[in-house]
Amino acid sequence: MNIDLEKPMTHLTENKEDRYRPKYHMTPPVGLLNDPNGFIYFKGKYHVFYQWNPFKTDHSTKYWGHFTSGNLYEWHHETSVLAPEDWFDHSGCYSGSAIENKGNLIAFYTGNVKNEKGERETYQCMATSKDGMSLDKKGPILHLPDNYTAHFRDPKVWKKGSTWYMIVGTQTKEEEGMVAFFSSENLTDWEHHGPIAGSYMNGLDYFGYMWECPDLFSLSGQDILIVSPQGLEAKGDKYNNLFQSGYFIGEMNYEDQTFSHGTFTELDRGFDFYAPQTTIGSNGKRLLVAWMGMPDEDEKNHPTIDNCWIHGMTIPRELSIMEDKLYQKPVEEMTCLRTKEVRHNKVSISTDFHEFDGISGNSIEMVIDILSKDYEVFNMRVSDAIQVSYDSSTNIFSLTRRKYHSEIDEVRECILEDLSSLNIFIDVSTIEIFINGGQEVFSARYFTDNKDSSVLFSCEGELSLKITKWDMKNSII
Ligand code: FRU
Repeated sequence: MNIDLEKPMTHLTENKEDRYRPKYHMTPPVGLLNDPNGFIYFKGKYHVFYQWNPFKTDHSTKYWGHFTSGNLYEWHHETSVLAPEDWFDHSGCYSGSAIENKGNLIAFYTGNVKNEKGERETYQCMATSKDGMSLDKKGPILHLPDNYTAHFRDPKVWKKGSTWYMIVGTQTKEEEGMVAFFSSENLTDWEHHGPIAGSYMNGLDYFGYMWECPDLFSLSGQDILIVSPQGLEAKGDKYNNLFQSGYFIGEMNYEDQTFSHGTFTELDRGFDFYAPQTTIGSNGKRLLVAWMGMPDEDEKNHPTIDNCWIHGMTIPRELSIMEDKLYQKPVEEMTCLRTKEVRHNKVSISTDFHEFDGISGNSIEMVIDILSKDYEVFNMRVSDAIQVSYDSSTNIFSLTRRKYHSEIDEVRECILEDLSSLNIFIDVSTIEIFINGGQEVFSARYFTDNKDSSVLFSCEGELSLKITKWDMKNSII
């Protein structure tokens, strides 16, 4: 079905000129964007569908919006592919995934329904496509099994051998978050095998009241379960956002339908990262995109809502495992967006904040190599809203953000034994910091009235750096 993009947009004006709109990150033309959905490489094109409210900058309804790319760095905004207008999805075409089968793209999503009594109903639905550009709804293929509340959503489907598998994010009737596991031989009849992970399972204590957006895949011989649990309490430098997204490394036993796993690790240590989804890229690599946002109070403070839009995606990242840790690197294709390069092979940093020639800009990539280790504290400031610091005596790496229109500084931290390099993507109102080749990542949105696009450095002790900066091309079409 094709939705006329004009229809949802009649009462909104597209505002490409918004001064906070990123230039190489996917953002919605109007309205609200949240989770990436149906991320797939299909017939020579990447598709990132996404949760979209085209009418308002809130979560009151959800369509599936759509971006395509031939190369992972230039993204085209396409016509919306799913609208919430059927009995099984009329309160929202919620998140889901896509697979390829016999030359067709097949999407699975959650039909969210609020009935006349105001109660929630949930249907896992299928929609198919020959070319990936429009989806034909086939209706529900899975109804809510016993034991779960209607917070049962976000189907992720994959194939192993000749069998299809699905996991769904759930809440049990005891209000514990879990991942339910299903199998099918034909994609339409699904057998429920119960939960494979969740609160009080596999050695976990209580671990949240709902698990959203699960994803399961194998990487370098290990199985990874990514999930977004809700209801974790902050613990030191962990779990400081309203909701978390992270992963368990383990082993999926398809015969016993069990998943044994280790501890939960957050994927991103910044302020804005949720509901990631992965797929396999054209080169066989495991790729990830995530919503660079959070469904929290702070949404109301985004100045972009004055221009009728809010939120965006992270840049695509490539996953790998090293020493039982998931590393995330920007996909190599991002280097195609680099234009004018400025390089300082060796600069000495002093105690006063200092700007280096040509190292500034509001849509840039930087690579910073730490050349000397004889320093206590390294600081970097981006405009007047962001400060990045590493204290080599406490091993604390921190990202401090000035809350928009306030004097409040918020901080996210992690422990890092050593800082050797930073790969930083700044895009108008977004920052993504890849530390030590992707060992840790911090992602955040930030807003400032100040048009200053300087990047300043300071340190305590002796520090020299190699700094390379590229201006980045606009890549959203
Ligand atoms: C995660 C989520 C999903 C749901 C979708 C609705 O952000 O809450 O669980 O399907 O967003 O937009």
